Amino acid sequence: MESQAKSRDYIEMELLLEAIYQMYGYDFRQYRKAHLKRRIEHRMALSGLESISTMIHKVLYDESFFKTLLFDFSINVTEMFRDPEFYKYVRESIIPRLKTYPFIKVWHAGCSTGEEVYSMAILFKEEGLLSRTQFYATDFNNNVIAKAAEGVFNMEKLRDYANNYKDSGGKESFSEYFSTGYDVAMIEKSLKENIVFADHNLVTDGVFGEMHLVVCRNVLIYFNRKLQNKVFKLFHDSLVPGGFLCLGSKESIVSIENDKLFTDMDIRLKVYKKAIL
Ligand SMILES: C[S@@+](CC[C@H](N)C(=O)[O-])C[C@H]1O[C@@H](n2cnc3c(N)ncnc32)[C@H](O)[C@@H]1O
Repeated sequence: MESQAKSRDYIEMELLLEAIYQMYGYDFRQYRKAHLKRRIEHRMALSGLESISTMIHKVLYDESFFKTLLFDFSINVTEMFRDPEFYKYVRESIIPRLKTYPFIKVWHAGCSTGEEVYSMAILFKEEGLLSRTQFYATDFNNNVIAKAAEGVFNMEKLRDYANNYKDSGGKESFSEYFSTGYDVAMIEKSLKENIVFADHNLVTDGVFGEMHLVVCRNVLIYFNRKLQNKVFKLFHDSLVPGGFLCLGSKESIVSIENDKLFTDMDIRLKVYKKAIL
């Protein structure tokens, strides 16, 4: 009996997640506990809270505090042409297959501030596919969605992004895709036109259309295995037969149940293809 006892911290955390779910509808109950614990402790230290129990009270009675916590829970780190090798693979191995479709739909789930979807739009433009592609870029965090839709980036970061672009097999002068101000760079208008930015929660919302490519990188790493499996099923149902799924470098489809849903295209780069059941 005793070995099954949970720690006080664990119980408090479960209660906090339950309170958030019941009060605001955001479901973090199947996120990885180690990730949430770090974020909760970070917020407790910054807000001078002594215990998770005190935090539960604050979450229930102070919506602005909840919003801060929501931001803490969603790690938004991203960059353009992140993992250049992945984009090289898309260019060389996925694009030729997408070219066989008259119209292409691409979903970036957990798009954060937009760097990932704009990178893909640049790549599609260079490969002559942009005009017949509709991109959907979604996230459950409204703040990052609004920022993504603006398409304004820090000049400092652009230098690193230019290196990534080059390493990914980029063919043009990267700066041509931006108009620059004093210390910011704005993405070229034509790259925004085919992107719809929308609020979508992978845990609680449903299927997202008949996609040819789903890109969900560095998001599932925060979910436990059970929740990952649920989301893999969602992606399977969102893809056309033979459609592609791209995950982040630390994420993979490993369970036998999901092995049936997807076949491997590149194990190292975490690229999968929807299996025909
Ligand atoms: C680390 S960022 C990854 C951004 C981008 N995909 C990349 O790889 O550069 C993770 C993003 O997932 C989003 N996210 C976390 N949980 C989510 C959920 N349940 N539904 C939709 N987006 C979620 C976060 O808000 C955050 O913007």
